[in-house]
Amino acid sequence: MPFTELKHPLIIDKLTRMRKQDTSSKDFRENLNEIAQLMVYEICRDIPLTKIEIETPIQKTVGYTIEQPIVLVPILRAGIGMLDGIQKLIPTARIAHIGLYRDEETLEIHQYFAKTTTDIENSYTLIVDPMLATGGSAIKAIDIVKQWGAKNIKFVCLVAVPEGLKKLAHRHPEVEVYAACLDEKLNEKGYIVPGLGDAGDRIFGTK
Ligand code: URA
Repeated sequence: MPFTELKHPLIIDKLTRMRKQDTSSKDFRENLNEIAQLMVYEICRDIPLTKIEIETPIQKTVGYTIEQPIVLVPILRAGIGMLDGIQKLIPTARIAHIGLYRDEETLEIHQYFAKTTTDIENSYTLIVDPMLATGGSAIKAIDIVKQWGAKNIKFVCLVAVPEGLKKLAHRHPEVEVYAACLDEKLNEKGYIVPGLGDAGDRIFGTK
């Protein structure tokens, strides 16, 4: 499975701000959106362009346009925290939603919501979720978008760990995964170490 850690001084600085436990929810959200925007700028380098004829005020010329629909799929709820930044860059992107929760006893992932978009079959699809921890939610979300017919799928997260990447590579080896940072490991409670705590709680100011 192709995995890219998008290292850049701006991303590293912003992620460090997010990791600090005394960072406010407002600053956490702002930095998350800014990182998501920087990451997507890099990730989208391979979107195909179509040549078109245009007229400038001076003369006819050729230009290039993105014709393929772009679909963003946030995994609820933390994935929502990456949307604003990406939408600033790609305002025409369609948004599909996938709601998942983990049964704390069986640790199984369950779907409680899923709504696709038109033409996802032909789209460039980016699933977004800040934390790739055990890999369970990522696998389930990719299962769902594949059932919807999506073919060109990428998974975009902020922090990943080797355990989650390994599981994901086993189930969906062709899906490209991008992270701002590959962290060390999972702890016994399933949190990423050193990580940044519960991303959803920090985004929404919940406990
Ligand atoms: N989900 C989070 O929000 N944080 C972790 O560390 C792991 C999973």
